[in-house]
Amino acid sequence: MLLGERMKEHKFATRAVHAGQHPDPLTGSVTVPIYETSTFVFKSAEQGAARFAGTEEGYIYTRLGNPTIKALERSVADLESGEDARACSSGMAAITTAVLSLVKAGDHVVSTDCIYGGTVKLFLGILSQFGVEFTMVDTSNVANTKSAIRANTKLIYLETPTNPTLKLTDIKATVEVARKHDALTLLDNTFMTPYFQRPLEMGVDLVIHSLTKYLSGHSDVVGGIIVGSKTLLKKMDPTLKNVGATLGPFEAWLTLRGIKTLPLRMERQNENALKIAKFLEQHPKIGKVHYPGLKSHPQHELAKKQMTGSGGVICFEVQGGLEAGRRLMNSVKLCTLAVSLGAIETLIEHPASMTHAIIPKEERLRAGITDNLVRLSVGIEDADDIIQDIEQALEKA
Ligand SMILES: Cc1ncc(COP(=O)(O)O)c(C=O)c1O
Repeated sequence: MLLGERMKEHKFATRAVHAGQHPDPLTGSVTVPIYETSTFVFKSAEQGAARFAGTEEGYIYTRLGNPTIKALERSVADLESGEDARACSSGMAAITTAVLSLVKAGDHVVSTDCIYGGTVKLFLGILSQFGVEFTMVDTSNVANTKSAIRANTKLIYLETPTNPTLKLTDIKATVEVARKHDALTLLDNTFMTPYFQRPLEMGVDLVIHSLTKYLSGHSDVVGGIIVGSKTLLKKMDPTLKNVGATLGPFEAWLTLRGIKTLPLRMERQNENALKIAKFLEQHPKIGKVHYPGLKSHPQHELAKKQMTGSGGVICFEVQGGLEAGRRLMNSVKLCTLAVSLGAIETLIEHPASMTHAIIPKEERLRAGITDNLVRLSVGIEDADDIIQDIEQALEKA
């Protein structure tokens, strides 16, 4: 049976299928059972007390732990080269749990400026009301990060590549800056997944994911996860357990199933995205195309250094402004007009009026999220069919 430490000897694709899981000892079920229960029986009052006291291992109540969720946590921890993980009810719940556990009123956080809109709202609209200070900078230039650091900086929050403009931050250089100032680093690795980028191996302290995206991969789960050292994750427990942002066992099971095909999906999405990005780059109705796998991406060399692929998200500007972009999105037939990303089907959306509408226009423009920017999350369909669909839609744009 492939388990625990032994998994480290195996390659990623093998670990994606097996890590953290074993046949059910009770029934022999090959797949991890869905322990769809809110609570667990104690053999005696003494056992219940011992489990609450932490002197005996075992499950108590699903908000505090559940075997299906534990299998998922072991799986993602293994793939990310972390010691352990904590699953949460959404990507936002993972970010909230992690940041709330690491900072308090009076602390300062430096963050990548162009990040997922919900994270911007959480930082500037919610956590800043509780006395946590945030400085949002373009972390693609490490000098900006360095000069934003203050005496009370406790955390550097990174999203690389950024959603939606696909700018990269030099992970190793930023970790060096953080360590010099005794600040922790937390990185949203949703876009790359551990298949293409493993930040913990580059010295980052904690990684978070929206499991909703590539890890589950089929547009049927909302979930999140935090991965890192056992010591740091222990710090997350009071927040996770008492705020209650726990993932459900069924969502954990669906994600475990999704992870088994993660390498296959990532390879195909990466290959499709590069082909589509090259097609878009030469199309007369398209302006800038943002995709780290393109030689024209300003950080293509850094991409090759810290990522082993570029993923499935492409952003591009449609000439003719917002109206032309809208006509394109209203004319696609195969691509699905919907937010989210990382699933098997190709999704198309408009960041300025949808995923990033929450960010004030001025800040949006400063971050490069123009009104004519369209985001494409490339699926696993045949790339030629996707290209044909975009081509016919561009004729109407
Ligand atoms: C990069 C990134 N991080 C975090 C999130 C939030 O994840 P969730 O929707 O699972 O809360 C998203 C959502 O789109 C995202 O794109």
